[in-house]
Amino acid sequence: MNHPSQLDANGRLRHLLTLDGLSRATISALLDRAEALRAQSRGGTVPLSLLRGRTVMNLFFEPSTRTRTSFDLAAQRLGAQVINFDIAHSSTVKGETLLDTVHTLEAMHGDAFVVRHKESGTPAHIAAHLRSRAAVLNAGDGDHAHPTQGLLDALTLRQYRPDFSTLRIAICGDIRHSRVARSDVHAFATLGVQDLRLCAPPELAPTAGEFPQCRIFHDFDEAIAGVDVAIMLRLQKERMQAAAIPSEADYFNRYGLSAQRLHRAAPECLVMHPGPINRGVEIASDVADGPQSLILEQVANGVFARMAVLATLLDADTGTANQA
Ligand code: NCD
Repeated sequence: MNHPSQLDANGRLRHLLTLDGLSRATISALLDRAEALRAQSRGGTVPLSLLRGRTVMNLFFEPSTRTRTSFDLAAQRLGAQVINFDIAHSSTVKGETLLDTVHTLEAMHGDAFVVRHKESGTPAHIAAHLRSRAAVLNAGDGDHAHPTQGLLDALTLRQYRPDFSTLRIAICGDIRHSRVARSDVHAFATLGVQDLRLCAPPELAPTAGEFPQCRIFHDFDEAIAGVDVAIMLRLQKERMQAAAIPSEADYFNRYGLSAQRLHRAAPECLVMHPGPINRGVEIASDVADGPQSLILEQVANGVFARMAVLATLLDADTGTANQA
């Protein structure tokens, strides 16, 4: 994809647009920093002042609950000021272009732009046209990437299964439209996972050759056999043509994670989902709320993963956490 390097001339992170191409050391340093910030802030209960005087601007052109709230909290818990740009009541509805909006906010000295957009490549486009030293953080662009989700998923998993080299992970659902799947694969493969399985109905499968690191399945019972981690994804109907949308009941029968199906996985298989979940479609309620589910832990870790990225991109003086 056409985007400027997210690394500067010294190999330090300047923007976070994708996990694709980041080194294992860079990803591990971000996860270590998230853990350090969790400890330093006593689980988020003690405010920090690392980013005092800095301004983080959230620009969400698509709906969001978890990602937007956790970026907001992450910035505030580091002492930054946060502007949640209200698209519906902004000059965007009067026809102002995206770049004019960004340049306007840059003139007010935004230090970071957190961008979610339905078009893949929008955060990179903004990064390429900045007029200031601001950092751009991708909060999900089309079906391309959701790097902080990949980081928070790796952070969550690492707490329970520190040795990634022996893990068997299945990611199941609407892979074709999933930026989460793409960023998870980049994170897990870079961190050493050898057995990565992607499972989707043929009409929602990735294009051939897109994931050389993964085995592709269309049969969920085969894909989930013996796995240590099952990551379930929502059907992203907003990115589908009407004809490609399977009926929900049929989908649950073939691809839903029920308690019965979970028995095919390894004992104590961990269950993850980026949210929002559709109960009874890709996951049964008793599994989503059950003892193997890490769904709310993922949410909690989202704040620390985003604190780590903001601190790394904006706090130029800390050095060590930002080595390539
Ligand atoms: C995901 C997203 O928006 O990409 N949600 C999230 O950020 N936690 C997944 C989805 O919408 O299904």
